[in-house]
Amino acid sequence: MNFRNLLYEATDGVARLTVNRPDRLNALDRETLLEIAAALDAFERDGAAKALILTGAGPKAFVAGADIAELAKQGPMEAREYALIGQGILGRLAGAPKPTIAAVNGFALGGGLELALACMIRVASQNASLGLPEVTLGLIPGFGGTQRLARLVGRGRALEMILTGDRIDASEASRIGLVNKVVPAEDLIGACETMARTMLSRGPVAVRLAIEAVNRGMEMPLAEGLALEATLFGLLAATEDAKEGTRAFLEKRKPGFRGC
Ligand code: COA
Repeated sequence: MNFRNLLYEATDGVARLTVNRPDRLNALDRETLLEIAAALDAFERDGAAKALILTGAGPKAFVAGADIAELAKQGPMEAREYALIGQGILGRLAGAPKPTIAAVNGFALGGGLELALACMIRVASQNASLGLPEVTLGLIPGFGGTQRLARLVGRGRALEMILTGDRIDASEASRIGLVNKVVPAEDLIGACETMARTMLSRGPVAVRLAIEAVNRGMEMPLAEGLALEATLFGLLAATEDAKEGTRAFLEKRKPGFRGC
């Protein structure tokens, strides 16, 4: 697919989406945001693309936030509408039925961190720097940051980042659970690919329903989440993959999953 500000390619089941405005540190202007929506459409429709890695072009930035030149011109109603558009697009990313991994290769600030937060997993390079600096501009996060960061790292840590606007480095992000792991910059995409391919080697229906159990369950009271888990567990017991997976274990061989 051809985009002005994105690169999208899929190889052997793993799609890679790269925000490609390196001279603006991959800042998200409206056009780029809408292109991300179109790329997510393509990813969801593409049955051959089974996992997504999202990253930024160049050695310096994942995404350095929403485009401040655009923000500077917005009035209140326009800004509200922009936040709702951004939330809608990132909400679709967060609700993707297939694994999504943010390869955080440098600055992940403001809308950039919110983009990473909408992915299921975040892997950071050692030079990554993460933050929600909106208050330094007299704003607050508008693409889900106040909600997703607090849910991921807890209210106190989220408020510290949001109210100070300070950036944290990759090791601190790992310590507070904001990123899953930290790797040298040159290994970042490889580490994400390895993780994605591990997931693709597992029972495909199980992976899909595990995503559903965690994501939908997080929005429910515990008792309802547990009921959902039991239902999906029961559903999986009826799949060929579960029969194959358990049989392969007992026969001491690798399973040959067929996704049904
Ligand atoms: N929106 C628009 N342009 C941006 C941008 C953003 N969010 N982030 C960086 N840029 C532009 C810079 O204006 C600069 O453009 P110029 O070359 O025309 O001057 C270019 O990208 C390179 O950035 P620069 O600031 O020179 O790099 P740096 O290494 O000195 O600093 C940052 C890097 C990330 C610390 C700094 O760019 C920054 O603070 N960016 C804004 C982050 C932010 O507040 N994001 C939240 C927005 S809600």
